[in-house]
Amino acid sequence: MPTVDNPTEKTLAELGVNDAQGVAEKFAEVRARFDRQVALEADEIRKLMLQEAWLGSDSDPVTSLRNFWVGRKTGVLTLITENWLKKSPSSLKGVIGKQFNELKGHIETKLEEQRKRIEEKTEAAALTREQVDLSLPGVIRPIGSHHLIRQVFQEIEDIFFSIGFSVVEGPEIETPYYNFEALNIPEFHPVRDDMDTFYLDLPKGASTPLLLRTHTSPMQIRTMEKQKPPVRVIVPGKVYRRDNPDATHSFAFHQIEGLAVDTDITFCDFTGTIEYFVKQFFGPSVKTRFRPSYFPFTEPSVEFDVSCPFCGGTGTAAAGGTCTKCKGAAWIELFGAGMVDPAVYGFVNYDAKKVSGFAFGIGIDRLAMLKYSIDDIQVFFQNDVRFLSQFP
Ligand code: DAH
Repeated sequence: MPTVDNPTEKTLAELGVNDAQGVAEKFAEVRARFDRQVALEADEIRKLMLQEAWLGSDSDPVTSLRNFWVGRKTGVLTLITENWLKKSPSSLKGVIGKQFNELKGHIETKLEEQRKRIEEKTEAAALTREQVDLSLPGVIRPIGSHHLIRQVFQEIEDIFFSIGFSVVEGPEIETPYYNFEALNIPEFHPVRDDMDTFYLDLPKGASTPLLLRTHTSPMQIRTMEKQKPPVRVIVPGKVYRRDNPDATHSFAFHQIEGLAVDTDITFCDFTGTIEYFVKQFFGPSVKTRFRPSYFPFTEPSVEFDVSCPFCGGTGTAAAGGTCTKCKGAAWIELFGAGMVDPAVYGFVNYDAKKVSGFAFGIGIDRLAMLKYSIDDIQVFFQNDVRFLSQFP
């Protein structure tokens, strides 16, 4: 270690010290030097290192300083032991030993203080650096909202909750048995033409074909298989058909199925329930009507219409001309429904002589489009925030 004027590299004799007084003076000198250095800041120590050309092995000046004084091989304390204590006449050894112990204690205490001081300073600097500025505006996270379709689901679910229905949900991948056969739609029945649709590619030898459900009606069967009457459920969900996308068609859309079965359900209960729902959804002034229709799983089957809520059932727009919603018809076709066909009960082991009930299947997208004046079904699936944020 190259040093400048380091008296501890010499023996006391070489320094011309031969009595207790001289020893005390030398120790005082060394101690004063140490005191000066230990009080220095890191960058001042670095400067001193350059000036005095001592050390250099350690990149950290504080560690270098520490090594200079207490380093095991060439630290000042070791040098004093080697050059002063061991190489002195025994008459001086007592004095040197005492002075040495004092100096050693002093150096160790001060270095420890220095270590703490630096640590605290670093910590304080970090605290300042990391201080939280409460006056800064926070990160504003836009709060999302339910998709309009989800909102309409909820609106409809609430209406049916209020008259004792509960919600069940079912699989979007179905077997042809639930999607068709058990709903009284045998293979080669013409209504399958509309629905013969997305079959899944299955490994060879799969026991049954699977398809994306084309309606929520399969849940009628699954529900009745699981529970005895009375049954009062609605089934919100996504359904799939091979429709070409346009303003009113999409290959994925949404339905709510309804099913009520008990020992004494009449056609009046059926129309009363539907009427209640429609008035809750569109407002009390609308009228309902039904027309004969056909579904394999209901008998009789009907199509429910509502008097156009937008033109008050007149067919005429407020500003004159034809109402664009009902296209002048004064009525809007809403959904299909009917009394459950007794043949369906045969598939779920219900006694068709004892039970009766009704079912309905509401297309949610169409209803949402009507109610919220949306003229393109595709916007429901595009996830355009400009559209979604209009329905907070
Ligand atoms: N599942 C039918 C469809 O998607 C809709 C439907 C009609 C459901 C009559 C019913 C019903 O429960 O009674 O076209």
